[in-house]
Amino acid sequence: MKIACLGGGPAGLYFAISMKLRDAGHDVTVFERNRPDDTFGWGVVLSDETLGNLAANDPVSAEAIRRHFAYWDDIAVNYRGRRIVSTGHGFCGIGRKQLLNLLQQRALALGVTLRFETEVDSAADLAKTHDLVIAADGLNSKTRSAFAQHFKPDIDVRKCKFVWLGTRQKFEDAFTFIFEETTHGWIWAHAYQFDADTATFIVECAEATWNRFGFDAMSSEQSIATCERIFAKYLGGHALMSNARHLRGSAWLNFPRLLCETWSHRNIVLMGDAAATAHFSIGSGTKLAMESAISLAGHLASEPGIEAAFRKYEDARRTEVLRLQSAARNSLEWFESVERYVHLDPVQFNYSLLTRSQRISHENLRLRDKAWLEGAEAWFQRQAGSNTADVRRPMFAPLRLRDMTLKNRVVVSPMAQYKAVDGCPTDWHLVHYAERAKGGAGLVCIEMTCVSPQGRITPGCTGLYAPEHEAAWKRIVDFVHAETDARICCQLGHSGAKGSTQLGWEEMDAPLKDGNWPLLAASDVPWSPRNQRPKAMDRADMDRVRDEFVAAARMAERAGFDMLELHCAHGYLLSGFITPLTNRRSDEYGGSLENRMRYPLEVFRAVRAVWPAGKPISVRISATDWVGDDGIAPHDAVEIARLLAEAGVDICDVSAGQTSIRARPVYGRMFQTPFSDRIRNETGMATMAVGNVYEPDHVNSILMAGRADLVCLARPHLADPYWTLHAAAKLGDKRETWPVPYWAGRDQLYRLAESAEAAATSV
Ligand SMILES: Cc1cc2nc3c(=O)[nH]c(=O)nc-3n(C[C@H](O)[C@H](O)[C@H](O)COP(=O)(O)OP(=O)(O)OC[C@H]3O[C@@H](n4cnc5c(N)ncnc54)[C@H](O)[C@@H]3O)c2cc1C
Ligand SMILES: Cc1cc2nc3c(=O)[nH]c(=O)nc-3n(C[C@H](O)[C@H](O)[C@H](O)COP(=O)(O)O)c2cc1C
Repeated sequence: MKIACLGGGPAGLYFAISMKLRDAGHDVTVFERNRPDDTFGWGVVLSDETLGNLAANDPVSAEAIRRHFAYWDDIAVNYRGRRIVSTGHGFCGIGRKQLLNLLQQRALALGVTLRFETEVDSAADLAKTHDLVIAADGLNSKTRSAFAQHFKPDIDVRKCKFVWLGTRQKFEDAFTFIFEETTHGWIWAHAYQFDADTATFIVECAEATWNRFGFDAMSSEQSIATCERIFAKYLGGHALMSNARHLRGSAWLNFPRLLCETWSHRNIVLMGDAAATAHFSIGSGTKLAMESAISLAGHLASEPGIEAAFRKYEDARRTEVLRLQSAARNSLEWFESVERYVHLDPVQFNYSLLTRSQRISHENLRLRDKAWLEGAEAWFQRQAGSNTADVRRPMFAPLRLRDMTLKNRVVVSPMAQYKAVDGCPTDWHLVHYAERAKGGAGLVCIEMTCVSPQGRITPGCTGLYAPEHEAAWKRIVDFVHAETDARICCQLGHSGAKGSTQLGWEEMDAPLKDGNWPLLAASDVPWSPRNQRPKAMDRADMDRVRDEFVAAARMAERAGFDMLELHCAHGYLLSGFITPLTNRRSDEYGGSLENRMRYPLEVFRAVRAVWPAGKPISVRISATDWVGDDGIAPHDAVEIARLLAEAGVDICDVSAGQTSIRARPVYGRMFQTPFSDRIRNETGMATMAVGNVYEPDHVNSILMAGRADLVCLARPHLADPYWTLHAAAKLGDKRETWPVPYWAGRDQLYRLAESAEAAATSV
């Protein structure tokens, strides 16, 4: 085949090598506009895993690369006058110029033609004279632009400004992060050694900080001098150096996240940065480029024609690219939000930084650096006020809210059972909640319990509006208090426009087949075209419903609940006031967010006034409506939380969605936790995270990184009421209390866990 590689970066060169290795008869030419030694940037990072993939493809170039690697195991974080070092991270760095020179030599040895100082104006022209054109022409790919209608690139230019510099200062012992507070805001550096006497030194900051520094008006030299002053104490008198002379102006960039809908067109195929980018903070751009080259070369060798090979290449690489882009997005968003985290203690800040991409879990950090993680866990327990001398996971730290102390941070999230009779809990509820309280969670939150018959979601919902309800709940609460050390929280709510619907396992949110009751809501907006139109509440309705909440709170107190939660989420009555999607009021309860919050806050204050001062109240919110800017967005949730905190709400239970049939949620592991993180770290309010959290590792990393104070698990507790005790046994923590009659079972579980652990470590 006659092949043109447009671009002599890692993608183009490595593809040329990979093709020649598979068939020396291919006629391969690399066209590169620069000279062999011209290159932007300094060092690149590759992992041991990537090097393994390169060695399997071409042991010769892999060995040459390996010989030039600078290795380091540690990550050092300089922040607020402290340098915290953790180990076991295993990276290697190589100069970009060195890498390209090695690849050039290898390509020449294999018979590839390298044409330097050759600008290619049109990939389409090359495509006429070659069987195959690899468009590896980098981030600003002309080929991608020329065929933009076909490739459909999606480019998201990110918020931070960065500049890629080098220095002779040594950063040999660790990949180093430096965070500096200046009068203009925070600015930070990512520094790592890549050969005997040079280190990469990337400086980054928020655009607002960059503007305040006046970097926009500075020449490259002035920018560098300013960065040298900012980081002087880390540079040991060494200069910062730029080699981005080919870039105009100051060489500061905004990172563009790029993905294309398709990667091939006729006999032209995109590769490397031309096809997709991954933020430099997870060091994967070169990895992506080289691994894509291996993939395409392999498929071209095994498939009957280039079309089939392109298809296989896209199928194989797209998933990997999306996976890395997702980790890269988490990582770059963390850096975009640095100022959100700068109030954190250095230990927690460091943990948050290390786990930012969500690729490194809590227990994975233990494998990397046990001593460091145990130090961090000890810090967590100390600041939680625990008197434990042993190191324990964050999930087993106590939490105090007013006079209530929870033994650990796991919460049974409220879950409707639809088993009540006329609002009255039954033996089902006794057994259900008793089992969960025996199962080890620090807090059991009961299902949405409705303040009136009209406020029920379904005919099977529990209530607190009649004396027999109070008595039935008291029986459950008394059992929990007498037989377990869990605390129990009562979630109070009113269904609003989502009332009078079928049981959860029938047709969810659909009106009853018969026996519907009239509905009330902020405005007369039905939940869906199938649901009945609610009455827009007038002042008398608002007073009555508020008083129903107060009466229910009094009953909850007499029943002995330890905590109250006001349900202001998921599209029910109070949530319906908060979201503009269902609140169309023109009085002081509609319009601005402050107005829309007025009634929920009125209800909260009235309830707070009758609820004992020593007992806490949480409020559950939907932190996003998942409909973009038309509805509640995460930044609104921060304002909602601020208003709640000001009114005296003790903790915000951060859920999301279920407020509109238009919602388009983006699901994933711990998918709602970022909202809790944002609220907690921007307002200082305590939060509960919830949503697809199902492993102890998730809970520990959320808590340790300061993304929430409590973690709620719903479905995992349906599958396993003993989730917390089982997790403790598996983790080898024997300090959670089991019900006395179950001790024999507990001891057997401990033994089994120990044997499983011993077997796993002996493999
Ligand atoms: C600040 C920063 C730090 C980074 N750190 C890392 C890291 O630590 N690890 C990592 O793996 N990656 C890192 N990267 C990313 C990495 O540099 C790229 O992902 C990688 O170089 C992509 O390889 P490529 O071959 O696709 O593109 P490039 O390396 O950009 O190569 C494209 C080549 O095509 C040539 N070219 C373009 N147009 C034409 C034309 N019309 N005619 C002729 N030649 C042309 C260019 O001159 C260039 O040499 C970083 C990037 C940045 C910006
Ligand atoms: C069967 C079921 C019933 C639920 N009922 C309620 C409820 O009454 N009140 C509430 O706030 N959330 C309710 N939820 C939502 C959960 O509390 C939780 O927010 C959601 O399931 C996400 O958590 P998970 O991924 O751990 O299941 C319910 C969830 C389930 C699965």
